[in-house]
Amino acid sequence: QINEAAAVVFSVPSYACQRRTTLQNHNTVLTEALSLLAENAELNEEDGRAIAFRRSEAVLKALPKAVTNLADLRGLPCLGEHSLKIIKDVLKDGVSSEVETTRQSDRYKALKVLTGIFGVGAKTADRWIKMGISTLHQLQASGQTLNQAQQAGLEHYEDLNQPVAKAEADAIGDVVQKVVLSVLPGALITLIGGFRRGKPTGHDVDFLITHPEEGREVGLLPKVASLLKSQGFLLYQKTTRNSYLESDDGPARLSSNMDRFERCFSIFKLEMNPGTTRSGTPRSSSRTESQSDDHSPQTPGGVHENGLESRRRSWRAVRVDLVVSPISQFAFALLGWTGSKLFEREMRRWAGHEKAMSLSSHALYDTKQRRYLRAASEEEIFAHLGLEYIPPSQRNA
Ligand code: GTP
Ligand code: MN
Ligand code: MN
Repeated sequence: QINEAAAVVFSVPSYACQRRTTLQNHNTVLTEALSLLAENAELNEEDGRAIAFRRSEAVLKALPKAVTNLADLRGLPCLGEHSLKIIKDVLKDGVSSEVETTRQSDRYKALKVLTGIFGVGAKTADRWIKMGISTLHQLQASGQTLNQAQQAGLEHYEDLNQPVAKAEADAIGDVVQKVVLSVLPGALITLIGGFRRGKPTGHDVDFLITHPEEGREVGLLPKVASLLKSQGFLLYQKTTRNSYLESDDGPARLSSNMDRFERCFSIFKLEMNPGTTRSGTPRSSSRTESQSDDHSPQTPGGVHENGLESRRRSWRAVRVDLVVSPISQFAFALLGWTGSKLFEREMRRWAGHEKAMSLSSHALYDTKQRRYLRAASEEEIFAHLGLEYIPPSQRNA
């Protein structure tokens, strides 16, 4: 065959956790096409299909150069029939008609808009669409009862759908660090999630908090949240306490991937006024939202926090996740919350299928030895799993 001689031979291991995937991607047109189909499947709760597209996407992200020919893909893992069809179309025409049809579809567009509201998942969005609600206006007009998270999500819709820059994450980190240390001196605060992987922007900011003395971290978040709130930094927060149970032979095993750490989902109020120092005392929570902009000289009175006037505000809303782990579980929490989501999922799959082990953000259990394997660092966890260590910047699968 003509293609045979020209074909590039790529060698890629099957599990994403065996690969080094940097942010630099030589196949963005292909990966964006597959990513949209994966996202659409996720929004429709077609999990198997979503994972298949995500795995294909991740294989292409790991390639050292651009694919130009279908023959280049020979021998690559995870590329199913459907993904190959999409890749073929994109290589031939520059676009895939299935991807473009999906992108333009009313259902995809409505699911995107509605799940763009913090607190609204695929199930709720589907229920609303079936009631004829496809836009924010229709939702507001419908009189649907919204929970507190969703109300806050709708109120700060525009801000929360703007990417968060690394500088903004760092500014929030300064505030969080100060408050956490004032409640628990000696606490350690680590930026996790996408920013730890070196992403320049994110949809939120994630922090992991621990303390070198086991047990000192218990009950930290309610205090941190109430202090942040009293200082006017929180527009919304929901704190849940640690529900991870200790049994005789170590921490109890979890059936799902959900973890049980003490955590706080919040919407942070980030000051952006150039005249305001980051660490300066912000407004008190006793003032109402509409009053709170008044101190700013270039902000006219009566500005509302959403809608067209948003550019005149001196602050923006940012989603912030705080997670607290005891030091004994810190390495597992750090690994589990650094992502990417696919990298994590693949690591758990590797543990289960290849090593008869069970990995969570709390612990690693060896089914054959019937015991928990301790680890004080991410490197030790990779070693327990028989995997080469992959640093955070190369976990962008
Ligand atoms: P952006 O925020 O979009 O930049 O990407 P991200 O990678 O930071 O994603 P996200 O903030 O959603 O999650 C960060 C990491 O935490 C990912 O690896 C998730 O798998 C993980 N994560 C998020 N929620 C949970 C959870 O409830 N339990 C556990 N164990 N991990 C979670
Ligand atoms: Mn994140
Ligand atoms: Mn998060």
